[in-house]
Amino acid sequence: MSLLKEHDLGTPAKPGPATVSIEVDGMPVTVAEGTSVMRAAAESGVDIPKLCATDSLEAFGSCRLCLVEIDGRRGTPASCTTPVTPGMKVRTQTPKLEKLRQGVMELYISDHPLDCLTCSANGDCELQDMSGAVGLRQVRYGYEGANHLDAPKDTSNPYFDFESSKCIACSRCVRACGEIQGTFALTIEGRGFGSKVSAGAGELFMNSECVSCGACVQACPTATLQEKSVVQLGMPSRSVITTCAYCGVGCSFKAELRGDELVRMVPYKDGGANEGHSCVKGRFAFGYATHPDRQLSPMVRDSITDEWQKVDWDTAINYVATRMLDIQAKYGVGAIGGITSSRTTNEEVYVVQKMIRAAFGNNNVDTCARVCHSPTGYGLKQTFGTSAGTQDFRSVAQADVILVIGANPTDGHPVFASRMKRRLREGAKLVVIDPRRIDLVRSPHIEATHHLQLAPGTNVAVVNALAHVVLTEGLYDRAFVDERCEDFEGWAEFISRPENSPEAVEEITGVPAEELRAAARLYATGGNAAIYYGLGVTEHSQGSTMVMGMANLAMVTGNIGREGVGVNPLRGQNNVQGSCDMGSFPHELPGYRHVSDDAVRTVFENMWGRPLLSEPGLRIPNMFDAAVEGSFRAIFVQGEDIAQSDPNTKHVFAALGAMDLVVVQDLFLNETAKFAHVFLPGTSFLEKDGTFTNAERRINRVRPVMAPKTGKHEWEIVCEIAEAMGYPMSYSHPREIMDEIAALTPTFSGVSFEKLDKLGSVQWPCNDAAPEGTPTMHVDGFVRGKGRFVQTPFVPTRERSTRKYPLILTTGRILSQYNVGAQTRRTANVAWHQEDVLELHPHDAEVRGISDGDEVTLASRVGATSLRAVLSDRMPVGVVYTTFHHPVTGANVVTTENSDWATNCPEYKVTAVQVGLKHPRPAAEAVQDELLEPALAD
Ligand code: SF4
Ligand code: SF4
Ligand code: SF4
Ligand code: FES
Repeated sequence: MSLLKEHDLGTPAKPGPATVSIEVDGMPVTVAEGTSVMRAAAESGVDIPKLCATDSLEAFGSCRLCLVEIDGRRGTPASCTTPVTPGMKVRTQTPKLEKLRQGVMELYISDHPLDCLTCSANGDCELQDMSGAVGLRQVRYGYEGANHLDAPKDTSNPYFDFESSKCIACSRCVRACGEIQGTFALTIEGRGFGSKVSAGAGELFMNSECVSCGACVQACPTATLQEKSVVQLGMPSRSVITTCAYCGVGCSFKAELRGDELVRMVPYKDGGANEGHSCVKGRFAFGYATHPDRQLSPMVRDSITDEWQKVDWDTAINYVATRMLDIQAKYGVGAIGGITSSRTTNEEVYVVQKMIRAAFGNNNVDTCARVCHSPTGYGLKQTFGTSAGTQDFRSVAQADVILVIGANPTDGHPVFASRMKRRLREGAKLVVIDPRRIDLVRSPHIEATHHLQLAPGTNVAVVNALAHVVLTEGLYDRAFVDERCEDFEGWAEFISRPENSPEAVEEITGVPAEELRAAARLYATGGNAAIYYGLGVTEHSQGSTMVMGMANLAMVTGNIGREGVGVNPLRGQNNVQGSCDMGSFPHELPGYRHVSDDAVRTVFENMWGRPLLSEPGLRIPNMFDAAVEGSFRAIFVQGEDIAQSDPNTKHVFAALGAMDLVVVQDLFLNETAKFAHVFLPGTSFLEKDGTFTNAERRINRVRPVMAPKTGKHEWEIVCEIAEAMGYPMSYSHPREIMDEIAALTPTFSGVSFEKLDKLGSVQWPCNDAAPEGTPTMHVDGFVRGKGRFVQTPFVPTRERSTRKYPLILTTGRILSQYNVGAQTRRTANVAWHQEDVLELHPHDAEVRGISDGDEVTLASRVGATSLRAVLSDRMPVGVVYTTFHHPVTGANVVTTENSDWATNCPEYKVTAVQVGLKHPRPAAEAVQDELLEPALAD
């Protein structure tokens, strides 16, 4: 439980150790140099009236309400824009100031609808508060003169209204959109009395550039920009601090409630990952938690062609346990297994992998990270010694050169993108390596210095060429390499071979050699250089190789071990880091320790009271293969829609269809549940109690906002299944699960719910050596001792474009939707994205007779689907792009079984395809016949 409103200090804190002492109303106060008089006063306990100032935005000085008197200075300066100077004596309350402030307020109020009692912001309106604060008792001006009371209302956004008659033109919204969000969708149009806020060129919010992050709504001091939920439900009266359940940024929120009803999510100022900002998903798209599609009762059926039967929890749990044991008795201990979810808490994941290892008695556990960041785990462990990003998000503020590789942060990791954009506006240089011209390449006040628009599947050739330039042009950090790294000489010989030069790879990658050389020089010599990457790096046949290639590049330039540098995966799902940390891979116990390590296994065996296998179990694709072949018969699927999210859908369907028992634990009857025999309803993040770990290794508390709607926490269900299978496993609270994790995992040994409640969050490693966590890794030495250079020869993918499949399909996500869309499709976010579309270059469209908006068939050698075409010159010729948020599109029907050589992570980013009109016009019929031939024959 927290305060509903945090104390607003008026202007942002200033960094730096130097301090200045002043007097405010006779009281001494010492503050950081550069602090405003307003903030200094607030820090000493004196709140100066204000309207246009707020501590999340730079001071603007427009409302003239915050006037003060300063000894020895003429006039009444605005305290928000006046910095402190040593010895300053400030008076904040004098008869003169009182009169001036009342005059200002009188003018505001005379042009404001006086409907306070029925206004949705009643009780949360700064205009109302300031009227009281300045002692306004009368308004001498009537409404007869010109006013804005009839100004129109814009209700086009599904989540907030813009009621411009209430606008006081303070510009906080405009500044929030620029400074915090970095979208610059709003302007103040006109001047003086005629000035008004405008989205774009006088458009409706929905038609403007607005991305619905809500920063303007949060910044608005009146009810002008207001959440629709507040208008409908009323002002919240209490709040609970918790963590967003969408992406790996892991934003902290205050869930604000009225009674038991969630009214709104407000980004938490003290949230380490987001510092008071959010995106449209976290702030607004929580309605899925109470969507009527949500299943709340356990259900069972003997055959997937039967109707579901609702049963009580005991029946469902005993059914699962009995069937699992029967299958093991008949087909062997290894015939069953499970998949953990990156959407659930660390504690929920931990108990599932423990159930599999200790109660099932095998290591057949894997996680959805298999299909996204498993190469990150492998690659960073090989080179640095630990499977995690090196920095905290704040670190980007110290970067001078930022490399974004195979990631689209403005859509995938929007709050981090806002931080990054702020740094870029301050002057940091940007290099984007991506086949698509993502928004970052050119957006308001930002332009990439280099966009290396490489051919899909050639990442490794590009990163090798970058390192080649660094080495052969003598731009590397010899001292860092000598002191901190090993295996350099062999790698240096490999990387300086002519075949790795930009000129040699130009034809393969499509990147002009000179551009590549310039990018390498910038990275090596431009100051602090940081790499941020996403699934465009990992979901390749050489995903792990590329991760190691980036690590090599960072090491050879000494860009590791301090703020502003590093190698940072932008993790997709909210708890993908955590699910990996918790021992979800078949070869690793919690804390990334190999199951074959006798000493480690003994520690777990002693704690868990069961012998553990020293052999790794099956990975997800091996489970599918074994199911089709008949030796793998039952699976427990925790919160992942494998039927939709895994590649080569036909094969996945065949595997699921072949199993005797499929148990799905989820919120909705998803695509996988079509193959399930038992459905165990799960809890939404609003009901969970535990922790999520974000992409910067930050462990955040997830606090329950409401009781589980299903009557049981997910961890309880798992424990009860284990118990019913004869393995005692019980906890009275998730806190005890975290205590067990801490006792077994050296990097977590200092973590506890108590510490998280005290500090807000911690970044692992958190132990005796770092009791408050570790924002930057590898500072004095690498986790593995010395950083290891690994040779990374480029091996082209087997997936090539051919005459029959001449285009390359690559996939990604968009801002408003999330993953397979199970949650976001059940919210008003569908207003932005009703369907998956196929983006293709106008040239590729033209030669196929395709126009914008046409329905097209997309076919690969494994399958075909259809979707609407959108022509876009963001795509290079020969490359097409789609998202995978809607099951009806079935984008994975066309993706192949190719995968990363080290981890089996699917090669989602490279599929050879053909595209043709679905309903061909006569001239295009020949192409269409050829297109459908393989799919029909298949
Ligand atoms: S919601 Fe966000 S993007 Fe839209 S206008 Fe407001 S601040 Fe800008
Ligand atoms: S909409 Fe709100 S924040 Fe924006 S100028 Fe008007 S009153 Fe200020
Ligand atoms: S950036 Fe990610 S974690 Fe933050 S609010 Fe958006 S979806 Fe949630
Ligand atoms: S708060 Fe200082 S001028 Fe508005």
